[in-house]
Amino acid sequence: MSEERPLTSRTALVTGASAGIGRETARTLARAGAAVAVTARRADRLHALVAEIEAEGGRACAFEGDAASLEDVRRVVGAALEALGRIDILVNNAGIMKIAPITSNAVDDWTRMVDVNVKGVLHFLSATLPHMTDRGSGHIVNVGSVAGRRPFPGATVYAATKFACRAISWGLHLELGNAHGIRVTDIQPGYVETELLHDQPETNAAWDEAWKGRRTLRAEDVARAIEFAVKSPDHVSVSELLVRPTDQPT
Ligand SMILES: NC(=O)c1ccc[n+]([C@@H]2O[C@H](COP(=O)([O-])OP(=O)(O)OC[C@H]3O[C@@H](n4cnc5c(N)ncnc54)[C@H](OP(=O)(O)O)[C@@H]3O)[C@@H](O)[C@H]2O)c1
Repeated sequence: MSEERPLTSRTALVTGASAGIGRETARTLARAGAAVAVTARRADRLHALVAEIEAEGGRACAFEGDAASLEDVRRVVGAALEALGRIDILVNNAGIMKIAPITSNAVDDWTRMVDVNVKGVLHFLSATLPHMTDRGSGHIVNVGSVAGRRPFPGATVYAATKFACRAISWGLHLELGNAHGIRVTDIQPGYVETELLHDQPETNAAWDEAWKGRRTLRAEDVARAIEFAVKSPDHVSVSELLVRPTDQPT
């Protein structure tokens, strides 16, 4: 393993790579030497990311798709396998967050969060896992949240999806670690300054007020945590990483 580019012999598929944490994770893994396939719905952003990675001397390819669609995910994983030869690392990062009091009964937002944050994770798992179990190795990184440990008001359903993510990660370790040599990591970020938090104009002012004068995490801080987990030796499964801003009071 090269000291400077320790992931040179590895390949990774990063979901939700058109923005935020996924984008920085793809760049970070590519800088560490991995060949990276990136996916999300916004193809223009994915192609720009591939161009950036290649300009830095890295290897990358892009496949557009909706994580909520099993058909799309099967196509994306098939194309990534064809392009990369295999998928050593799956970063299940695509996600959405819709904040509203439960009494607002925003059932469409609840459904969408479950579709992307829970079913999306399962879709990529279903399409990727057979290849990992065939080879008897692999690393699945699920991007959960601090909300997967403790809900906060307005985020009851979002937190439920991240509790599910943590439950899936825990169960996967039990079923895949010893039996199949597959490692699983649940990354649990606190507040990270990304588009996710500015998706709903009506909550922007509240976030800004709550975080006035406080330092947040940046996407690269989470990418570094993911890099740490995947670079750990094969016998080490970094099962959970809670990464909060020092200034986060919750
Ligand atoms: N920001 C935070 O404070 C924070 C804290 C804890 C956990 N997280 C988690 O971190 C992950 C990444 O979030 P982020 O903060 O980086 O948000 P972001 O900047 O909004 O990025 C979200 C990514 O997910 C993709 N995505 C959303 N819906 C999708 C769908 N249906 N199909 C495919 N891709 C989809 C988006 O791409 P397209 O729109 O192009 O499809 C985008 O690339 C999420 O799982 C989030 O829950 C974030």
